[in-house]
Amino acid sequence: MRTLIKKALKSESAVEGIVIKGWVRTRRDSKAFSFMELNDGTCLANIQVIADAGIPGYDDISKMTTGASVAITGNLVASPGKGQAWEVQATEVELLGAAPDDFPLQKKGHTPEFLRSIAHLRPRANLYGAVFRMRSRLARAVHRFFDERDFTYVHTPILTASDCEGAGEMFRVSSGGKEEFFGKPAYLTVSGQLEGELMATALSNVYTFGPTFRAENSHTSRHASEFWMIEPEMAFCDLEEDMTLAEDFVKYLVKDALENHEGDLDIFAKFVDKGLVQRLQDVVEKPFQRVSYTEAVEILQASGQTFEYPVEYGVNLQSEHERWLTEEHFKKPTTIYNYPKEIKPFYMRLNDDGKTVTAMDLLVPGIGEIVGGSQREERMDQLLENMKHHGLSEEDYWWYIDTRKYGTVPHAGFGMGFERMLMFITGMQNIRDVIPFARTPGSCEF
Ligand code: 4AD
Ligand code: MG
Repeated sequence: MRTLIKKALKSESAVEGIVIKGWVRTRRDSKAFSFMELNDGTCLANIQVIADAGIPGYDDISKMTTGASVAITGNLVASPGKGQAWEVQATEVELLGAAPDDFPLQKKGHTPEFLRSIAHLRPRANLYGAVFRMRSRLARAVHRFFDERDFTYVHTPILTASDCEGAGEMFRVSSGGKEEFFGKPAYLTVSGQLEGELMATALSNVYTFGPTFRAENSHTSRHASEFWMIEPEMAFCDLEEDMTLAEDFVKYLVKDALENHEGDLDIFAKFVDKGLVQRLQDVVEKPFQRVSYTEAVEILQASGQTFEYPVEYGVNLQSEHERWLTEEHFKKPTTIYNYPKEIKPFYMRLNDDGKTVTAMDLLVPGIGEIVGGSQREERMDQLLENMKHHGLSEEDYWWYIDTRKYGTVPHAGFGMGFERMLMFITGMQNIRDVIPFARTPGSCEF
């Protein structure tokens, strides 16, 4: 349908002898003819079909109800009616699959909660069709961004025996047998970073883009048990360059969405967030903020705000703190860097102050953390020290340690939550509504 509409726009004259297939959105009949709105999911726009009574297949017209699939043969002609430039004058209609009266998407205005319960039919709703087409475009833009910068795309394993983040929030994998299939406990990966580092210390600039899994019991609108993450890793790179790449990446993806949405962004601006386009334009045009963790804590303490979790140096910033900083205080995307070493994983590089590590989190209004990254500890002695501190055994990570033994280099990287970025671009409020089939605690349907 999308191809056809494009062709029609180009040709500016009728296109004869076309076949379109799609699902009926609405139909209204009069004595002599029937009007149908069809959509095949390739674009937001429906196409209007006019079928005169008596053409082949017309006997089935009463079964071409909302949700039914049909094939229409006819001519695409300029529309005399209001609201659309083109319509299809049918010469033949064919019912492919009927949809009984209990088709759940009859009316508009279903709640997101209800639509999640019918996630198998949800993409047929306009808003969700737009979300999933945006998701596809965003994935392509991710690859284009790195391709333009000569990064090598690497595939890191989904099955792993190591916990990158050290948070212990991993799903255990078993073959069901008594023996350990891999000879040791295996898990679903929480991050491709460690393997990304192995590849970067050979290929310089690499990135991975794949599913990751977290067994954390977070019931928030921004956490899923299975989500996609983009993780670049760069050799010969420090924290400063890492933060710059993350900012450029966010801007690039937003700009791409503004320029290449084929109408899909309009539906979010209309039904989800009236200020969306302006907000996205600001992201592209205005510089982001950077602030150290220490400064951020001082700003929060001086804010006069009452937070559920009080702020003091050394604590993890909660989402309420992060959101206040980016939404109320700076009012723009903000990167916080140099966190206390105690609250961050073993692989981050210790700063000269001996207290902080080169961690960075990029926060955006409406979501909070969208990117988390760091410069990595490349000095063997310090890495071993960090591992001891975090209770990690050198034997388990011998392969990781080897990269520091043989030609170690300063390197850095980050992880961007793909769904969180999509939420930011579409204004959708819940992560469950930007993943086709969400996996969250207590829910693994479809
Ligand atoms: O901050 P995180 O945990 O960082 C890492 O995993 C690093 N190993 C990345 C790296 O340096 N290569 O996760 C990175 C991002 C977060 O900023 C967030 O956007 C997203 O992943 N994320 C989640 N998204 C959805 N559901 C969850 N449960 C998420 N946990 C993290
Ligand atoms: Mg993080």
